[in-house]
Amino acid sequence: MIEISRRDLMVGTAAVSVATANAASPVFAQSAAPAAAENHSQVVFTVNGTPHELDLDNRTTLLDALREHLHLTGTKKGCDHGQCGACTVMVDGRRINSCLSLAVMHEGDQITTIEGLGTTADMHPMQAAFVKHDGFQCGYCTPGQICSSVAVLEEIKAGIPSHVTNDLTAPTEVSDAEIRERMSGNICRCGAYPNIVAAINEVAGRQA
Ligand code: FES
Ligand code: FES
Repeated sequence: MIEISRRDLMVGTAAVSVATANAASPVFAQSAAPAAAENHSQVVFTVNGTPHELDLDNRTTLLDALREHLHLTGTKKGCDHGQCGACTVMVDGRRINSCLSLAVMHEGDQITTIEGLGTTADMHPMQAAFVKHDGFQCGYCTPGQICSSVAVLEEIKAGIPSHVTNDLTAPTEVSDAEIRERMSGNICRCGAYPNIVAAINEVAGRQA
């Protein structure tokens, strides 16, 4: 009868593990390199009027491309799940949640972030209205709020209805209800909502 001690068993198991790892590692080394290259793509898009060519992991979101690769940190990451609107940017004139969109999907697109709307010395009218009406407290949601606000007025001007538009045959008009409905995807944990509505009304040339 063969007697195997606990120590013999442990030594044998360790030897098999090392042998397996040594046999497997070249396979991993061979497969990892091409996979990494396959997961990358070149993408060319324009951000705030400047063309950029980036080599990105295909899984990179537009938000991370802007923040981590182009260092445009004005666009904020709030939830990273499409629920807060902090990452709102405009792509070809339409607002999107950049955390929900892969950068490689934007080949050839024109992207506008908060940095492209205006500067401290020469603010976009919506930025100036937010300052005038105290449309922020901590400011974290503000870049997304402002990009969304600009897009909301464009949507109304273009006659695009919302869930609160009563008459689909009449020209769409700016109202508090329309603004609140259309801005409902932009969350402000500081609760600056009334002042944001006031700022948008001002840019629309309307008294709230
Ligand atoms: Fe994109 Fe919240 S970070 S919606
Ligand atoms: Fe603080 Fe909106 S101003 S979250």
